[in-house]
Amino acid sequence: MHPGQFYALPQSPQTFKQILMVSGMDRYFQIVKCFRDEDLRADRQPEFTQIDCEMAFVTQDEVLATFEGLTRHLFRSLLEVELPEFPRMTYDEAMKRYGSDKPDTRFGMEFVELNEHAQGKGFKVFDSAELVVGICAPGQAGYTRKQLDQLTDWVKRPQIGARGLVYVKCNEDGSFKSSVDKFFGPDDLRAWAGAMGAKPGDLLLILAGEAEATRKQLNELRLEMGSRLGLRDPKIFKPLWVVDFPLLEWDHDTQRFFAMHHPFTSPKSEDVDRMLTGDHAALKSLRADAYDLVINGCEIGGGSIRIHDRSLQERNFKLLGFTPEEAESQFGFLMGAFEYGAPPHGGIAFGFDRLCAVMRGQTSIRDFIAFPKNNQGRDVMIDAPASVAEDQLDELFLEVKPVETED
Ligand code: AMO
Repeated sequence: MHPGQFYALPQSPQTFKQILMVSGMDRYFQIVKCFRDEDLRADRQPEFTQIDCEMAFVTQDEVLATFEGLTRHLFRSLLEVELPEFPRMTYDEAMKRYGSDKPDTRFGMEFVELNEHAQGKGFKVFDSAELVVGICAPGQAGYTRKQLDQLTDWVKRPQIGARGLVYVKCNEDGSFKSSVDKFFGPDDLRAWAGAMGAKPGDLLLILAGEAEATRKQLNELRLEMGSRLGLRDPKIFKPLWVVDFPLLEWDHDTQRFFAMHHPFTSPKSEDVDRMLTGDHAALKSLRADAYDLVINGCEIGGGSIRIHDRSLQERNFKLLGFTPEEAESQFGFLMGAFEYGAPPHGGIAFGFDRLCAVMRGQTSIRDFIAFPKNNQGRDVMIDAPASVAEDQLDELFLEVKPVETED
């Protein structure tokens, strides 16, 4: 009906549920299909389902309490599991203690930073590193040379990307054996073991390098060791809220900011001034009223308190690289609505498929969706996507450029 025009694929009904708040509908709940064109992973499908909500005149605490109640109810009534308290952890704390914004808190092995103990002793790898950080694997000092070599190869795989792995065996007799004995004596190693709360029989695993990358690598190693040691029991559930996410994320490749949650997320009230006038460093440090529910290392849901003021929303679009014209043409309906006196509002969405998977102790959502796409994004049942006939393209006023495909 509209040659040359397209419906754009919305990631979720985000702006629509916000408009409903402006219209005076003060609570909105829905179970909704979402469609996303993004890389596939075990816990991601192009078509999935959300339990989605928006509420007017709410604080973060009220949103969290509502969805904590829902989660508790579901676990109690479906699994007869009484969930423990949902602790809260800031994003910064989660990154420091676990190297991840979705920590699996079923087991310990928390990160311990060793810069002050390990630098300045002539070991270049540590001395040149922004961060030296390790975990203590309980009772694993018996790892053989071969096992340690294999673990080193494992962290050096391109998917993990570490340059090497330093180990310290805390032997039962109180002695130490490390891969860096040339640079560090027993007193040094004892100091590390002390800082890491290690006991005789434990194995210290240490990585060093640029802080952000090293934390990510150690997160992978921690999860791997947790699995090997049987500490990730699918019948145990450890929920937590991760709060105070950064508002903006700097992308080095494209040299621009992205919204960490989405462009409608409000900065924390104490950060608004810095958002309006701050320099690049100040912008990077802005915090948002954004939160995630994490269970057993899986992000079950995410949400935020929203911007409800036109000028602040315009500022956010500007920081995200929109020209005023682009912002107006794509989101004019929302910013226009804010001019009528929008109520403060916020919400959250749970991934329904992920919640089901975690409740059944699984990490892949594929068994919780009828006819899921495979890891190539294909529906193998009906063999889609597939090419269409010329007359169907004509009907849509589309022309397909010939491309070389792999299949
Ligand atoms: P967000 O993008 O964080 O927020 O998504 C919320 C939750 O939806 C699930 N999810 C997915 N599940 C399967 N496959 C995917 N490709 C996929 N992408 C997301 C996750 C995630 O935590 N509109 C906002 C919510 C809000 O701010 O209220 C939103 O969609 O479990």
